Amino acid sequence: MPDSTEDFPGEFTDVAATRNAYDEVADLYADIFRHQLDGQPLDRAMLAVFAELVADNASGPVADLGCGPGRVTAHLATLGAQVFGIDLSPRMIALARAEFPHLSFDQGSLERLPIGNEELGGIVAWYSLIHIPPDRIPQVLDEFYRVLADKGHVLLAFQTADLSDAVEAFDHKVTRAYRWAPKRLARLLTDAGFTVNARMVREPGADERFGQAYLLASKVR
Ligand SMILES: C[S@@+](CC[C@H](N)C(=O)[O-])C[C@H]1O[C@@H](n2cnc3c(N)ncnc32)[C@H](O)[C@@H]1O
Repeated sequence: MPDSTEDFPGEFTDVAATRNAYDEVADLYADIFRHQLDGQPLDRAMLAVFAELVADNASGPVADLGCGPGRVTAHLATLGAQVFGIDLSPRMIALARAEFPHLSFDQGSLERLPIGNEELGGIVAWYSLIHIPPDRIPQVLDEFYRVLADKGHVLLAFQTADLSDAVEAFDHKVTRAYRWAPKRLARLLTDAGFTVNARMVREPGADERFGQAYLLASKVR
């Protein structure tokens, strides 16, 4: 059952733990990852494809859900996306606002999005679903489906599991997290009503322990 916490009454205990953990490391995280995309051409390629798809569809703004300090939000904006960010951590939101004052950032939870039905043209969840316990991911994807307009696009990034259909907890440096076999998360996207259009897995970089996966899906009725 959800426990009460001061930010979102009724939220799960792990959500409060995640928020507190990211509040503590937010400044360091922002410094470490500020220019990380510069060295990741494959990650930028997925973001570029996503930006092109949402521009072609033009059915609403893009939400960067679990935006952290806003580096991906800002990158998408440079690609022409009309994008805003939402994150659990107030410190992350404060940093994002300070660094990118031309963009909009608000505190909120992925599990209870402060967004109306079918308002978005796109959703990016870049290493943010990883902190939600696997048994709650189906409800989160239902929430994504609710807020996305017809023909809208979703882009997920996450660490890969070792086995082909596994999801497993790992010792993430900030707080508890889960890595997924792309096939398994893709199946949950399909169960939620999405069409999975592309999957990319890249090898770990020098400072990464696991393969990195990217799923691109769309809402087609
Ligand atoms: C690994 S960081 C990624 C941040 C950003 N996407 C990036 O790539 O720089 C994970 C972020 O997800 C946020 N987050 C985790 N669980 C969340 C939830 N349930 N709702 C909203 N944000 C969440 C954390 O506060 C944190 O900022």
